[in-house]
Amino acid sequence: MTIPRSLVIGCGSYLPARTVTNDDMSRIVDTTDDWIVERTGIRERHIAADDEFTSDLAVKAAEAAIAHAGIDAQEIDLIILATTTPDLTFPATATAVQARLGLRHGAAFDIQAVCSGFVYALTIADTFIKARQARTILVIGAETFSRLLDWTDRGTCVLFGDGAGAVIVRAGEGEGTIHDRGILTCHLHSDGRYQDKLHVDGGPSRTGTVGHVRMEGRDVFRHAVTNIAGAIKEALAATGLSADDIDWFIPHQANRRILDGTAKKIGLAPEKVVFTVDRHGNTSAASVPLALDVAVKDGRVRRGDLLLLEAMGGGFTWGSVLLRW
Ligand code: ACO
Repeated sequence: MTIPRSLVIGCGSYLPARTVTNDDMSRIVDTTDDWIVERTGIRERHIAADDEFTSDLAVKAAEAAIAHAGIDAQEIDLIILATTTPDLTFPATATAVQARLGLRHGAAFDIQAVCSGFVYALTIADTFIKARQARTILVIGAETFSRLLDWTDRGTCVLFGDGAGAVIVRAGEGEGTIHDRGILTCHLHSDGRYQDKLHVDGGPSRTGTVGHVRMEGRDVFRHAVTNIAGAIKEALAATGLSADDIDWFIPHQANRRILDGTAKKIGLAPEKVVFTVDRHGNTSAASVPLALDVAVKDGRVRRGDLLLLEAMGGGFTWGSVLLRW
């Protein structure tokens, strides 16, 4: 007997043309390239043009993923877009993407889990496939996070960037073993007691404004390593695999020190970690699919490889997805 499996059959990404280096940042706030590189590993980030919106980034990443998967866009029957920076408070940015791709069937919705958004969206996609409610799902993480930054706060504005990444998830069948292609296990968590540690101080209901990112960096750092390592251990326990079995660790790109700390805590060889934070900064929900696309397109990720994806963000939210490419 076979079981439904969610196969990731293609990926794509998009970065805005404008890059902002750490030296550029030092002309905006009191900071230095040395400080930013030492504390975060970030060297540059991409920032969207004034007339470039989250939906624009999302559509470009989606088109690249559709081309890479070799499908017709009309085969897509569900769009899930993870973002913290929708074009508008409503309607969902996913519906703008749906219209721009020329789709009139199926459903499209946004989900909000900040930096964990893509891991949440992929888990939702897997659930739809397993329930046989959708066959071909476009999952996107897209952000214009620069719009939420307080450009006078050096503690936060140096950390983030804009971008988008997307994957096509297709219903398939598997034997129900760890050798199957596709998503093997997903683990999501949140703990709302920590909302104040990382949040935006505005919103439609409370202030009628968009607000700016506020963060207690040290506390976020401490929780990030512990929570992420926990979600990874769950994925390994659920499948009976060990850290040695992982071919590529594709984490949320928040900060090099968080990634190094997590890899060390779970015993993952540093050469298996995909790093893009140096060139992208933290692109929130876009960071995991952006990193995945880089590692697929440069040939590191090959058919049959075991990939471990994870993320942690505001809420706190966090989670992991283990999949065979
Ligand atoms: N340039 C220069 N100095 C700075 C900067 C900057 N950009 N930002 C802060 N400082 C200063 C502070 O003002 C402080 O100065 P003081 O000692 O004179 O008061 C000093 O550096 C130390 O500040 P801390 O905030 O304690 O610095 P820390 O070593 O904790 O590093 C950082 C800050 C990089 C934000 C760190 O806490 C961190 O990485 N936290 C994780 C947060 C993160 O990655 N968040 C992303 C979103 S959440 C997620 O995606 C998981």
